[in-house]
Amino acid sequence: MDLSRYIRDVSDFPKPGILFKDITPLLADPAAFEAAVIQLADHYAAADVGAIAAAEARGFLFAAPVALRLRKPLVPLRKPGKLPYHTHSLKYDLEYGQTELHMHTDGVAPGTKVLMIDDVLATGGTMAAGCRLVERAGGVVVGCAFLIELGFLNGRAKLAGHDVFSLLMY
Ligand code: PRP
Repeated sequence: MDLSRYIRDVSDFPKPGILFKDITPLLADPAAFEAAVIQLADHYAAADVGAIAAAEARGFLFAAPVALRLRKPLVPLRKPGKLPYHTHSLKYDLEYGQTELHMHTDGVAPGTKVLMIDDVLATGGTMAAGCRLVERAGGVVVGCAFLIELGFLNGRAKLAGHDVFSLLMY
């Protein structure tokens, strides 16, 4: 299935000059959504994965069904003030702005092999922060998987040393 048919370009969102890749048409089509989840999960079916981690909010949309399909624990990485227990945290730059990502200190046991999932790789700031959080807890990042990679932003450079996989490249 050609998943690119389900990604809508929206000009000047969230700021003038930014061409936003809107995933809602894909989410609205169960066959396309399922195909994306299966393609992501199948890529790691034979890999040694102990847990899946993802940043809110859009990352959860893909990480949760992939975690269920692979029967692996899901570790949520969240924005400040959302996680109730003790957290590790990291500030990072977005394509437009700055924020912080938190993970429960017991989210990943030392030595756990963690597959990172997000909807979009743009500048790579979010995923790089997520990888550092997992590593701070002693986890080992075994892959960074995305529905969409905005290749022209070269987010892969921030993920040097990690295996990066994306279903759609722009
Ligand atoms: C978006 C997207 C990725 C991140 C990619 O999330 O879901 O997590 O930006 O950008 P980057 O590679 O430049 O870091 P956003 O922070 O907009 O939050 P949302 O998922 O809650 O919409």
